[in-house]
Amino acid sequence: MPTIGILCGGGDAPGLNAVIRAVVKYGAGQLGWRLIGIQDSFNGLFEVPYRVMDLTPVACRGLLQRGGTILGTTNHGDPFNREGGHDKSAALVQGLDMLGIEGLIVIGGDGTMRISQQLIDLHGLKIVGVPKTIDNDLSATDVTFGFQSAVDCATDALDRLHTTAASHDRVLVLEVMGRDAGWIALHAGISGGADVVVIPEIPWEAARIVRKIEERRANGRPFSLIIVAEGAVPTGERVAPGKAGQRVVDAIEALLPASEVRLTVLGHLQRGGSPVAIDRLLATRLGVGAVDLVEAGRWGEMSCLKNGKVDGVRIKDAIQTYRRVDPEDELVRTARATGIEFGG
Ligand code: F6P
Repeated sequence: MPTIGILCGGGDAPGLNAVIRAVVKYGAGQLGWRLIGIQDSFNGLFEVPYRVMDLTPVACRGLLQRGGTILGTTNHGDPFNREGGHDKSAALVQGLDMLGIEGLIVIGGDGTMRISQQLIDLHGLKIVGVPKTIDNDLSATDVTFGFQSAVDCATDALDRLHTTAASHDRVLVLEVMGRDAGWIALHAGISGGADVVVIPEIPWEAARIVRKIEERRANGRPFSLIIVAEGAVPTGERVAPGKAGQRVVDAIEALLPASEVRLTVLGHLQRGGSPVAIDRLLATRLGVGAVDLVEAGRWGEMSCLKNGKVDGVRIKDAIQTYRRVDPEDELVRTARATGIEFGG
């Protein structure tokens, strides 16, 4: 029976433990694999004693609804050390050999998948990937687990901001995560009834945002809710220098000085806590899909959801394109049709 290692890479996302549980239940519980969990991404393999744990079905009880990851994760676990240190990939390979690990299941986003592809190309490692990110920016899968939990968190925040904004006749701005993609802001903005949705794919103009606020006031709605993706930029700029929400607040205040404008930055609340049901389901399906890829010898592939069905895609192909919101997308049209302003 094979000995397989499993690790998480990059930022955490709700559903990581559900993937681990699925791989353990199926791979170790039903197929008889020995499954070794590697701690803190690839970092657990660099030094002796290796930081690893035996993952048995009994040891992994109660994981389905638990947030975070029992294995730990980091976005400073690049064995090729692009951050300026030395290349530790040979030590990693040695660690795998010492532990008798024949193949790896790597749960991660595009950064981790790039590292995995490099390990495959340079060291011939056997790796199967599982896509993860709250940002939903991987083009090779219909959706990533963790995304819906983040959207629900942001939608709940909008619901809460709605009542206080209405009580005080304020303009409340919510900044959400998403890196360079506006998926969380777009989905939560529609679901939470935001008046303005500001996303990186549609550069914003202060005048348009202010016009929307004024139109609402003229229509007897003296408050407004604005959701801003962290990567959003004003027209004419290409790179978001951070503080995207604060910049929108400042721009509104400059044009409407008499308004009370407040900012909430949702931050890591979007990544913490229990995964919602759809993420538990997706994580479980992708975990089982990864085990099936290993069993079929389809190394170098990543489990994914394609047109609603679990499938596999070559990691090499999966990292080619970053998925951003298409401004002509049906979702953007739906938002505009229901009165949402994008600021551009
Ligand atoms: O990629 C997931 C994500 O949460 C992004 O939405 C965000 O930009 C980034 O990670 C935050 O990273 P960190 O937790 O390292 O601050």
